[in-house]
Order: sequence, then structure tokens, then C-alpha cells
Amino acid sequence: MKVTVVGAGAVGASCAEYIAMKNFCSEVVLVDIKEGFAEGKAMDLMQTASLNGFDTKIVGTTGDYSQTANSDIAVITSGIPRKPGMTREELIGINAGIVGEVTKNLIAHSPNVILIIVSNPMDTMAYLVHKTSGLPKNRVIGMGGALDSARFKYRLAQALDAPISDVDGMVIAAHSDTGMLPLVSKATRNGVPVSEFLSQDQVDFVVEETKVGGATLTKLLGTSAWYAPGAAVSVMVQAIACDQKKMIPCSLLLEGEYGQNDICLGVPAIIGKNGVEQIVDIPLSAAEQEKFSEAADAVRAVNSDLKF
Ligand code: 2OP
Repeated sequence: MKVTVVGAGAVGASCAEYIAMKNFCSEVVLVDIKEGFAEGKAMDLMQTASLNGFDTKIVGTTGDYSQTANSDIAVITSGIPRKPGMTREELIGINAGIVGEVTKNLIAHSPNVILIIVSNPMDTMAYLVHKTSGLPKNRVIGMGGALDSARFKYRLAQALDAPISDVDGMVIAAHSDTGMLPLVSKATRNGVPVSEFLSQDQVDFVVEETKVGGATLTKLLGTSAWYAPGAAVSVMVQAIACDQKKMIPCSLLLEGEYGQNDICLGVPAIIGKNGVEQIVDIPLSAAEQEKFSEAADAVRAVNSDLKF
């Protein structure tokens, strides 16, 4: 199993590290445009192999896509991260060109690759890849819901004063500060609806903090987060590599599901060796469906800025 990660910045390097440490793939190739950067990150990570107990081979290359040839999975993290006060959508001008170019280079050397898109604005970048790559829709997967759901569970566990292992919850719709939809109605503490434990004020706080989880960290860190994004990607890569049939909310091309067409939005999906095995059309309340549609309208507006 060969995995390429494009972008050896904080997110890409964290993703490579978590993939390597889980020891389920033979090779991880880190690609960057900055001379020597990917090679350095790969060497530094390889020098943890005896300490962290993994046999995964990590190599780095400065823009030589021939090294990525025959990758089974490729993760696109390249592009600029946001600065404090910026929205993810403000990155489209620069990141659209980068993501388009990277996609072309990856497919040229790995025609059967499954792509995971991380670069922001992620729902729009995933849509761009669908429209320009020619890959079947099951092989283009946007990473947003896995990260947002992790932040949702973090906030729920805090509010519940419960161990995170007792908490389950999912975030769908857009990977944006306003378009995220944490599904409170389906969130549980060891199988019991969280509404049994939390007041409406506590629920509202959890939802709002989840939606701005990325912006909160950007304010604290001065740049986008990287540990949780990298870990979220590694969970998706492992689900594909090990054919886990895991249900993960991902940004996928919708063709009627959830009442939407010709757009990428976060929906629950079964992820396995073929990438997207199946989109799961779960029942939403009228209020949830309305929020989902509002998120779709906002993403569609950003998509209209794309130039194909
Ligand atoms: C985040 O929410 C980078 O969009 C990513 O942290």
C-alpha cells in the first residue's frame, strides 16, 4: 500500500506521521515545492521509526511526481493555510490553482489513485477536483467531517464531563465556520442521547464552539491547526487501505442525496477499499434539512468563483 501526501507542511507531515505510526502501509511519499523540505521532514520522521516502532518507509521529494508513481491513495494538503481572522473561503484564489495542478500531476503517475482533499476551502476544492480530474466520484473524497466530528466530540465530552470514549457524534454539511451541521439529535453518551444530560444552553455552546473550532485554533496558533486535521486524514486513509467499511462524514459529490445536486458537501459515507463504498442517506429533521440546504447555498456561491 503506497500513500502520497502532497504538502509537507504541518498538516501533511502530521498526516504522514500518523499513517506511518499506524503501520498499515508500506510507503509514504511526502511531496513539497520548497527545496529539500519534504526530504527533511521524511528523514526526521524516519529517525523516529525505531523509537515509535513502525516499519513504514517515508520518503520525501521536491516536486518529483515520478516518486509518487502507482500510489493507491494521495492526500492533497498543499496550498496556503488561513491566518487569524480569515475564512477558509478567502483562500480559493491561490489554492484552486495549486490543487488543480497537484491533481493533474498525481493522476499522471497514479491513474488508479483515490484522492483525499484537505486544502481549503475544502468543499469547493473537492468539487474542483471532481470537475477537472475525470476520476470516478467514489475516488474523490473531501476531508472535513472527520475533523469537525472530532471537535464536536471533544466539546461534548467537556460539557458532559465524560470520557471521550463514551461520546459519539457526527458533523455534516459544509466545512466552514457557518455551514457546519453538528447532528445533536444523533449525538450520544454511551448510547444515551446527549439531550438527556445537557441543557439547551450547553448544547448551543457545544454547537457554536464546534463550528468555529478551526478559527479558534487559528487565533491561538497564528495559523491553521495540524494535529487533528492530520489525524482525521489518517483515519480515512486507514479505512481505505484496510477496507474497514467505516462510516465517516466526508465531502462528496452529491447527485440527489440530501436534496442536492452537482455540489460537494459533508455526508455520512461508508469508506473502504474502493474509497466511497456508499453514501448513507440518514433521516434529518426539518430544521436539520433546512440548515443543510442553507450550507449548500453558501458552498454553491463559493463554487461559482471557480474558473474551469
Ligand atoms: C481546520 O478546520 C485546516 O480546515 C482545517 O483546522
